[in-house]
Amino acid sequence: MSLSFEGRVVLVTGAGGGLGRDYALAFASRGASVVVNDLGVDTAGGGRSSAAADKVVQEIRAKGGKAVANYDSVEDGEKLIQTALDTFGRIDIVVNNAGILRDRSFPRTSDLDWDLIHRIHLRGSFMVTRAAWNHMRKQNFGRIIMTASAAGIYGNFGQANYSAAKLGLLGLANTLAIEGQKYNIHCNTIAPVAGSRLTESVMPPDLVAALKPEFVSPLVLWLCHEQCQDNGGLYEVGAGWIAKLRWERTQGRIVRQRNKLMTPEAVRDQWDEICDFTNAVKPSNIQESMGMVVDVLSRVESDGEAGANLTAAPTSAVSKSRIDPSAVVGRQMEKGEFTYDHFQSILYALGIGMSTKDPDDLRFLYEGHDDFSCFPTFAVIPTHKAIMGGELMSIPGLDIDPTQVLHGEHYLEIYKPLPTSGKLTSVSHLADVLDKGSGAVLIIDSNTYNGDELLCFNQFTVFVVGAGGFGGKRNSDKAKASLPPPKRAPDAVVIESTSRDQAALYRLSGDWNPLHIDPNFAAMGTYKVPILHGLCSVGFAARHVLKQYANNDPSRFKAIKVRFAKAVLPGQSLQTEMWKEGNRIYIQCKVKENGDIALTGAYVDLYGPSEASPETLHKPLQGGGLQSELVFAEIGRRIKDLGSELVKKVNGVFGWEITKDGKKAAQWTIDLKNGSGSLHKGPYGEKVDLTFTVSDEDFMDVVTGKIPPQTAFFSGKLKAKGNIMLSQKLEVILKDHAKL
Ligand code: NAI
Repeated sequence: MSLSFEGRVVLVTGAGGGLGRDYALAFASRGASVVVNDLGVDTAGGGRSSAAADKVVQEIRAKGGKAVANYDSVEDGEKLIQTALDTFGRIDIVVNNAGILRDRSFPRTSDLDWDLIHRIHLRGSFMVTRAAWNHMRKQNFGRIIMTASAAGIYGNFGQANYSAAKLGLLGLANTLAIEGQKYNIHCNTIAPVAGSRLTESVMPPDLVAALKPEFVSPLVLWLCHEQCQDNGGLYEVGAGWIAKLRWERTQGRIVRQRNKLMTPEAVRDQWDEICDFTNAVKPSNIQESMGMVVDVLSRVESDGEAGANLTAAPTSAVSKSRIDPSAVVGRQMEKGEFTYDHFQSILYALGIGMSTKDPDDLRFLYEGHDDFSCFPTFAVIPTHKAIMGGELMSIPGLDIDPTQVLHGEHYLEIYKPLPTSGKLTSVSHLADVLDKGSGAVLIIDSNTYNGDELLCFNQFTVFVVGAGGFGGKRNSDKAKASLPPPKRAPDAVVIESTSRDQAALYRLSGDWNPLHIDPNFAAMGTYKVPILHGLCSVGFAARHVLKQYANNDPSRFKAIKVRFAKAVLPGQSLQTEMWKEGNRIYIQCKVKENGDIALTGAYVDLYGPSEASPETLHKPLQGGGLQSELVFAEIGRRIKDLGSELVKKVNGVFGWEITKDGKKAAQWTIDLKNGSGSLHKGPYGEKVDLTFTVSDEDFMDVVTGKIPPQTAFFSGKLKAKGNIMLSQKLEVILKDHAKL
């Protein structure tokens, strides 16, 4: 369909001749009402006449178009906009085009030459655009064109004043594009070439004749149409050719070292690299620029040892990542299949330091052992490979640079012990994306199933260096928080050496990142030598806790949370410090040799001694715990898996008050109305549509089908307040447990 400007009001400055005249005619021919502004000066800005503008207005009217003349200088921007408002009642589009030339070689450029050029081009465009801005903002539509020039972009002999003003316009447009975006005000810049009275002194006559303004106007019209979503672009245009320009930056080089003076000699010595455009990047916003600088600061300060463990970011790296949270949050990844037998679980056990030296370890190392088991943290393996091995990169809208990805934190929760062989399926999705300024944090939730049976939940917290600054939120309620240890000396400490080949062994379980084996690869990055896998240290720490507090019984292992802080080198000793608080063991893992804290904010949760991890659901809990907690945990998992679908079906917020011995014992809120759904323990900010009050015991009876919900309701065991009709829909999430 042809592009219409019916109903739009357009101001073209300097429209009495040359390019401006052609824009005005083109807009008018497509239905726009046009303000034809022209001061009627000569090319150097001298003189004044209304004739130029009048002539163009007559031309438009003669063709049946709508136009009005304005003879003010662009320096009186308000007056130009007022003409539009007085005549046509609004202003939609401003084409800043008016211009003059006062070419001089630089030393001969007078104050007046400089000032006049800046006043007409730069200040004039500012005055006109500012006058239009609030009208555009109120109507939530605006299109602005700035007219730059190749002389500004590349420089041109004798045009110092003009070049400076023209590139000033690009700077102005860059910022207006950012400020206007949310009001649907777009500002683009063109650098045109056309035969006009401005160019007739510098171009041969046949070229002036050939380079017609009508070869430029179509671009201006397209950029000003509501269908065009481009904003902040710079275009070269002439002779029917249009191209877009952008900035390019070399990879750059850090020439400074921590606690050392930065010297010009260091700059000289790395000059070739600084200026080498091989693998150049194209930064497109200030965040990418600032993010780089902030990243360099932290790299230099941490002396190259900062960051986490998964992939070393090369020292000279620049982010190529781009993230659109609205497009990626909630995205399901492709299901990951993992088939294994005792071979893999034994190999994993060896990888995390198990040894026949310890007879207790034999149950994880020998498939003929009576209690042969998988060590619980093996549960990271089935899903790790899928997520870190490429699945993440394939999410549409998540354009991240794989060399900048660091595994920052991890959470694992076991619901049923993993079998020692089988075929498992992991279902993962991107639960949230956070903007931490210098980087982005991706929270990936993954449930691993054996058939229909949910075995475990992994949460990967991944840091993408340099991908921040997209204006996203900084925190997420989806994140499993890391927790500091109590402020007292640890209750227990275990020290154990890793072997020189620990990483070489651990990688055979599926993490093939060369950072952990290849000295050349490691040397290119932050780390000087291959480092141990962070998840290998996690295995060590989990073993230490299980042995210390759970008799090495894998069924007692419930969950582990860690934050990866510093790297561990194969052969170093891990010192696991533990603080016991009930069934939660807070841990901190240090490198004994240098005191570096490798795992921080960490804890292991154990199932109570008489709580078998698997079949706890309907058994009374130890220590006065509520049985309903497990049902809610299950509901939480379903929401994680099917949240968006459930929100569509249910569209309600449910409050639960669980009582125990006649007293309120817990409160839960199930939100199936907002976002992709969520479960909250306790009260909640959103309005609750329906609240249930029920005792823990009655809740379990209803959930397990012992009491039909109607009976519970009419006997007063289950009280409901609010939109009762919604209770029909709750079945959707409780369907396997209850028919509420
Ligand atoms: P032009 O001289 O034909 O048109 C410029 C118009 O602006 C004239 O009609 C003039 O009276 C008017 N004007 C000057 N000062 C004014 C003021 N203070 N208030 C209102 N109107 C004023 O020149 P042309 O070639 O059509 O240029 C249009 C724009 O494109 C200018 O900004 C120029 O710098 C730019 N440009 C043109 C190129 C070309 O190849 N023609 C190359 C690069 C940039």
